[in-house]
Amino acid sequence: MAIIDTIKAKAKQRTMHIVLPEGEEKRTVHAASIIKNEGLAKVTLLGDPEKIKAEYADVCLCGIDIINPATSEKTAEYANILFELRKAKGMTEEKAAALAKDPMYYGVLMVKAGDADGLVSGAIHSTGDMLRPALQIIKTKPGMKAVSSSFLMETAKGVMIFADCAVIPCPTAEELAAIALGAADTARSLGGLDPKVAMLSFSTKGSAKHELVDKVVEATRMAKELAPDLALDGELQLDAALVPEVGQLKSPGSPVAGYANVLVFPDLQAANIGYKLVQRLGNAEAYGPILQGIAKPCNDLSRGCSIEDIVATVAITAVQAQEA
Ligand code: ACO
Repeated sequence: MAIIDTIKAKAKQRTMHIVLPEGEEKRTVHAASIIKNEGLAKVTLLGDPEKIKAEYADVCLCGIDIINPATSEKTAEYANILFELRKAKGMTEEKAAALAKDPMYYGVLMVKAGDADGLVSGAIHSTGDMLRPALQIIKTKPGMKAVSSSFLMETAKGVMIFADCAVIPCPTAEELAAIALGAADTARSLGGLDPKVAMLSFSTKGSAKHELVDKVVEATRMAKELAPDLALDGELQLDAALVPEVGQLKSPGSPVAGYANVLVFPDLQAANIGYKLVQRLGNAEAYGPILQGIAKPCNDLSRGCSIEDIVATVAITAVQAQEA
């Protein structure tokens, strides 16, 4: 069974409530209808109900809540939550009241208040604009140093996790360790994997000397300290991580080398290029970016996403919500 079908089957087992802030957007409206029909989640669209119903009269939206943040009775309550959370950062009551009417903030505040279990957006917003309210309001999980992301890759070698392909441009060693732990969690919860985490570099176990390599070595040390039972090793070159003979040669005795299923790239440029290479040249299916290390599930879409991408991301978010 394809990994996304396994995830959808899991999503159906316990209905989670997912909010879609871009509720006036065509692909999102069509996706909401499919999600409802397939029983993947309860969805709420944000937007003007009259406008949505008139514009998409051909789409069955029965059983789907539509909330207009500009007129909702909850907006004042959410504005107050936002003000209290951010007043030390210069938030005023007036600004909070205006932001709470913005669907991107309203949606995140619904999740924060426990009125929805998760959120999916980004079909018409950049990754940065989607992430900022989530980072400011939902924040990191207790014990996790940073929010990061993974791609779930269905490759010729099976399901793998690539991280961080979308959030932290130039991670510190501490952030790289957090990415590794977050990716291991994603591997377990969504990939059904027993994670074997490779901290990637252009060096294997001291074969090259450079400050960039030192950062990966330090991140490996920190991650091992935080999760001593996790199968994690570094620094490893990609071939040492994936090819058993090379792994044995370059990193003998490693619990990971040659058999890695979680690849932690040293920065966002390498990771973003890496997943797209495997997707475009290796014909892998790529699902993500899936946010990890965040206190409640919020996930981003690509602006080029299809209706099916939105459906899949909602299923992924629902499974994360089940496990939150
Ligand atoms: N984890 C936890 N909190 C974070 C993180 C993080 N990784 N990054 C920022 N924050 C917090 C900050 O601490 C701050 O909180 P505070 O206001 O309470 O103090 C808040 O988020 C805002 O932080 P800023 O530094 O002002 O936010 P910034 O403008 O730098 O945006 C962002 C952060 C959006 C994550 C930025 O790093 C970014 O744009 N990353 C790259 C996104 C991207 O373009 N990805 C590639 C495309 S995606 C794709 O191809 C699939």
